[in-house]
Amino acid sequence: MSLPEPCTRGLAGRVVAWQKEAGRHHLPWQHTRDPYRVWLSEIMLQQTQVATVLGYYERFLERFPTVLDLAAASQDEVMPYWAGLGYYARARNLHRCAREVAERWQGRFPGTAAELAGLPGIGRSTACAIAAFCFGERSPIMDGNVKRVFTRYFGIYGPTQKKAVENALWDKAQEVLAQAPADLDMAAYTQGLMDLGSQCCTRSKPTCSLCPLQSDCYAHTRQVQAELPSPKERTRQDERCCHVLILEQDGRLLLEQRPDKGIWGGLQTLPQFDDEQALHAAARRWSNQEPVVLASFQHVFSHFKLHITPWLLEADDPVLAEPAARQRWLELDGLRDAALPAPIRKLLDGLYGVGEAQLTLE
Ligand code: ADE
Ligand code: SF4
Repeated sequence: MSLPEPCTRGLAGRVVAWQKEAGRHHLPWQHTRDPYRVWLSEIMLQQTQVATVLGYYERFLERFPTVLDLAAASQDEVMPYWAGLGYYARARNLHRCAREVAERWQGRFPGTAAELAGLPGIGRSTACAIAAFCFGERSPIMDGNVKRVFTRYFGIYGPTQKKAVENALWDKAQEVLAQAPADLDMAAYTQGLMDLGSQCCTRSKPTCSLCPLQSDCYAHTRQVQAELPSPKERTRQDERCCHVLILEQDGRLLLEQRPDKGIWGGLQTLPQFDDEQALHAAARRWSNQEPVVLASFQHVFSHFKLHITPWLLEADDPVLAEPAARQRWLELDGLRDAALPAPIRKLLDGLYGVGEAQLTLE
């Protein structure tokens, strides 16, 4: 008995019908065609889950309601609204992009995927998503969700990071659209692919019984869902260590702004050192006491694991030294609204109860 073969014809219509019936309809970035709002949601959602993004999205839009408000702000004003979302290069590109839209495009986002893809931080798939949602452009997307659905539905093997596999996926995505009806609802189709990936075609144990593609899905009909998408070729996970100094002085802490490049770029954090000796040398500038070591913890970044060892020290009074160029004293009260990396916020919250809330919104 031969198995049914996956087919590009009719696929888009099945996804749209399912989206209208069973997809998500109440996300705050749906039901708007304002490219600023759609763009912001797509950038926030690039490496972050919907549940996390929701709160950030509302706060961000309340503070920066239009692209011109964002362009007029400084990078430092933007960072607190991003702190905790991770992948801070996104926030810097977001700000650069807003400025470019303000200056080069008179404050209006361009109306095609090709032009959108020329802006900072907007890759091909994001450009296509914005163009599909806002302008109904028939441009395919290829994010993590779609890669999962398409590798399984079409039975495409090989790591999706490989150029040849990625090209094969884009070709399929183009073919599906080329064969779709002229009046295809592009917003529903694009959202439908994302919804399928997050509601049915999940990474582990996909719920194929609820999926509109199950009758001829390659992975389902052969029961090889667990093999697809093919795992990434393994690279050894890099591990690094650092030491951070919690320097107290009369109800204040010494904070340091990270350089724009690298981890936590642009955020406020504790003075950080590669090794214990460097931390001790810095500590001696502030106190005649020895710093006290606290429990280490780890934080996992996309391509390495960071072991963080905190050290606590009270600075001598009167203070012995001046803060360095990127350093400043911050009252403990001010920590709540500072643009701290999530694990540092957690550490300080454990010590001082600074609160989980990133920002106060009244
Ligand atoms: N991930 C990326 N874009 C999304 C969207 N529009 N809705 C839900 N999840 C998404
Ligand atoms: Fe994914 Fe299952 Fe749907 Fe195939 S049938 S696309 S494996 S959810």
